Amino acid sequence: TVLGASGGIGQPLSLLLKNSPLVGELSLFDIAHTPGVAADLSHIETRARVTGYMGPDQLNDALKGCDVVVIPAGVPRKPGMTRDDLFNTNATIVATLADACARNCPEAMICIIANPVSTPVPVMWFEIVMKKYGVYNPNRVFGVTTLDIVRANAFVAELKGLDPARVNVPVIGGHAGKTIIPLISQATPKVEFPADQLSALTARIQDAGTEVVKAKAGAGSATLSMAYAGARFTFSILDAMNGKEGVVECAYVRSEETECKYFSTPLLLGKQGIEKNLGLGKLSAFEEKLVAEAIGELKGSIKKGEDFVANMK
Ligand SMILES: NC(=O)c1ccc[n+]([C@@H]2O[C@H](COP(=O)([O-])OP(=O)(O)OC[C@H]3O[C@@H](n4cnc5c(N)ncnc54)[C@H](O)[C@@H]3O)[C@@H](O)[C@H]2O)c1
Repeated sequence: TVLGASGGIGQPLSLLLKNSPLVGELSLFDIAHTPGVAADLSHIETRARVTGYMGPDQLNDALKGCDVVVIPAGVPRKPGMTRDDLFNTNATIVATLADACARNCPEAMICIIANPVSTPVPVMWFEIVMKKYGVYNPNRVFGVTTLDIVRANAFVAELKGLDPARVNVPVIGGHAGKTIIPLISQATPKVEFPADQLSALTARIQDAGTEVVKAKAGAGSATLSMAYAGARFTFSILDAMNGKEGVVECAYVRSEETECKYFSTPLLLGKQGIEKNLGLGKLSAFEEKLVAEAIGELKGSIKKGEDFVANMK
């Protein structure tokens, strides 16, 4: 099920999912336009059976029996707006959707794209709401940070003249600015950069969202690359659920790897979600410094998220 399927991310994401032989049933939910999006996609000659659901009354039906939920619902960032500006609106949307998931598909893998992933609110909301219903499983709730990895792979490949499909750069930490930590020292194939180039590359990966917001000049934030990243993450989840071994993706999850309750690291995925958190691995001195800075900032945003959640009760 895609929640927010008619949006800038939701539509191309739904197209990519419809195009995959891994998907048998594709359920599209939004507060607007889903009948049209579903009718359009249903004419594509691939296996997935597409159904559109629109408005709060149809949310339960959109989720019943679903194995994987992907959530690009929300309000995107506009120029001049920080992720924090979006905080209240998006957190409230996510709270409603979390409640519906807990009631209708408590066993499903939950992949949250909606901001603010930078603050842990969406992941936290799922934890709180699912605990309320006694169905919380930390191995099944993911804040999708794949776009950071996709960007890191693309930028490294561009600088080194490599095939981007063969490059893999783990990205850990959070999902905003300085909390995004590309681990270039752990990249495959192995790559090396002089210190100034490494700093510039790291900064570009951390600020890549703004590059797109500026270039779109008022027409929204990253949608196509995010749809690609969301689909990549979903396919990895589906592959692992189908028994494929050795599937690893980074995501923002409940974590014990650092002092932060929520932290993104590479995860080994399996039939039941996270099989093993692979942790931070061996860091370079440069990366260790980035992690130390990010932990301070992440702890602040986790606290802010907790305060927000406490006030909403
Ligand atoms: N995780 C990431 O890397 C990443 C990257 C880019 C954008 N985002 C976030 O993804 C979200 C979507 O971005 P977009 O550009 O597609 O925005 P958009 O405005 O084009 O689409 C959002 C969709 O959500 C729908 N929606 C709103 N309230 C809803 C609700 N209660 N239930 C279901 N659907 C609802 C809207 O009708 C719309 O179709 C935003 O929160 C944005 O900030 C995340």
